Amino acid sequence: MSRIFSGIQPTGNLHLGNYLGAIRNWVSLQNDYECIFCVVDLHAITVWQDPAELRANTREVAAAMIASGVDPKKNILFNQSQNPSHSELAWIFNCVARLGWLNRMTQFKEKAGKHKENASIGLFAYPNLMAADILAYRATHVPVGEDQKQHLELARDIAQKFNNDFGVDFFPIIEPVIMGEATRVMSLRDGSAKMSKSDPSDNSRINMVDDVDTIVKKIRKAKTDPEPLPTSKEGLEGRPEAANLMSIFAALSDCTVEDVITRYGDQQFSVFKQDLADVAVENLSPIQNEMRRLVDDHDYVDGILREGAGRARAITEPIIREVHDVIGFLRA
Ligand code: TYM
Repeated sequence: MSRIFSGIQPTGNLHLGNYLGAIRNWVSLQNDYECIFCVVDLHAITVWQDPAELRANTREVAAAMIASGVDPKKNILFNQSQNPSHSELAWIFNCVARLGWLNRMTQFKEKAGKHKENASIGLFAYPNLMAADILAYRATHVPVGEDQKQHLELARDIAQKFNNDFGVDFFPIIEPVIMGEATRVMSLRDGSAKMSKSDPSDNSRINMVDDVDTIVKKIRKAKTDPEPLPTSKEGLEGRPEAANLMSIFAALSDCTVEDVITRYGDQQFSVFKQDLADVAVENLSPIQNEMRRLVDDHDYVDGILREGAGRARAITEPIIREVHDVIGFLRA
């Protein structure tokens, strides 16, 4: 049986990359799979978070998922800290994963930067918690953007080592699901850097909460090169900004990059950018209106998360009991 798990950190500045690389794909997968979607607040605190902002961001991510079309009745939608199985299995995986494996994680190196000695242990062990998120449900498929690939490979290694160490076939070897035309949305200011929540320049990303004028302005200001748009896919080589804007256009209008090239090849960026702004606004406006309505309705959003967490615990508790048996812990 296939079961999907995926998550988003409530660290603010939810952006177009999160939408195209993850949320939108979840909406299209929800009809064919059993899905569990999580606001990963335990991951967020690997870097200090202001408590009031963490609460607000948790509600905002949940609202964004629902507003985008994730059905909280059909799927399980909850925030991670409401299900203790995640932390519990993460500790067990801290004892399975090897220091050398975690030392290779590029995201830790990027996030810790020059201040490695000052990073939290949680930031270093982050991928173990991520493996626990997925494997606590024995989920099989994980829809994410391309930047999560290395973490998912580590989750596969953890599952395999656990199974080997204990001579069992207990955890599935998960499959990343990286789909669509925008699996790695790049910064609007620099085509070689990922669009990210933590980029200090707000013009580098389109935030899910940006109003129409801001979206139009950011796209108009997006970095490009002086050439007209290319007439073939090969013509995108060495033109990261053009490649990025064209793949965003393709993803937003449900077509391929080839289609975008056929339509805009040889034209000036000014024309293309105007159309790109139109499709971005057309896609995001209805979601934003619904998001605004939902974030103010704390009772509704908190109720959805609480109910989802109950359903999540009902799945993981028996799995964790089995893990205890496999390891040799006495039952409570
Ligand atoms: P996070 O919160 O950074 O991002 C959430 C999702 O958005 C995708 N994404 C992007 N996709 C395309 N282009 C981009 N520029 C871009 N930026 C972000 C991410 O790939 C992700 O799918 N570690 C995860 C959260 C997590 C998780 C999990 C995911 C915790 N446990 C278990 C899957 C399964 C993270 O930080 O995502």
